[in-house]
Amino acid sequence: MKQNSSVKIKTLRGRDICPYIPKIAACRIVIFCEYPYLYQGDMLYEERYLQIYSMAKDAILVIAEDHEDVIGVITGLPLLDSMDEVKSLFMKKSIPADRIFYLGEIILLPEHRGKNIGYRMYQQFEKAVFEKGLYEKIALCEVIRAENDLRKPLDYTPLSSFWIKQGYVKYPELVADFFWKEIGANEETKHPMVFWMKNCS
Ligand SMILES: CC(C)(COP(=O)(O)OP(=O)(O)OC[C@H]1O[C@@H](n2cnc3c(N)ncnc32)[C@H](O)[C@@H]1OP(=O)(O)O)[C@@H](O)C(=O)NCCC(=O)NCCS
Repeated sequence: MKQNSSVKIKTLRGRDICPYIPKIAACRIVIFCEYPYLYQGDMLYEERYLQIYSMAKDAILVIAEDHEDVIGVITGLPLLDSMDEVKSLFMKKSIPADRIFYLGEIILLPEHRGKNIGYRMYQQFEKAVFEKGLYEKIALCEVIRAENDLRKPLDYTPLSSFWIKQGYVKYPELVADFFWKEIGANEETKHPMVFWMKNCS
């Protein structure tokens, strides 16, 4: 597999995240406008969203930098510090969440994919979570789209095999509704997202 030696992977915690917020926000906007998210990004919302991570005491961010550019990021924080959409699902299902770490996203700019960078970022993230010794599970969620969605690119591959390779199991009964504006839309619409989890031991 090709390696890109100029790419550095860094783990950030708490306030260390602050100087990187604008660059991470820009990266999120570019990547989340792709299928399956089709998210119409907004810098102000992004910066507010990322502030949650800078304020959460146990948040972990892993970034990939190519020279001065942020080209990829993984965000994570204790599930109980995450967004209401996530917390309320676990409460509604009576799943104790105090020992669950939530992976918010793993993203890498398209031109850097397929060079093992995502895998290296993920390994570093998982190591940082495991080192805390506080969590039984890592949870993440992925957007659900119809099989026949006409906006799906012909070469689109769902990430399921990536998650399975990292040891995650899908929980089809755990679905949370998120709201965002799709590209070209005037209003936010509902986007169900299904959870995957893996054990930390
Ligand atoms: C997920 C992502 C960060 C992976 O990064 P990457 O650097 O391309 O992945 P790597 O090159 O490290 O590949 C790691 C492994 O995952 C596999 N993989 C990578 N992307 C994959 C995909 N989209 N579907 C299935 N498998 C994938 C690779 O084949 C590789 O497997 P191998 O070790 O058996 O060869 C990148 O594809 C991405 O940013 N995707 C779009 C954003 C996204 O949907 N994120 C998830 C939800 S937030």
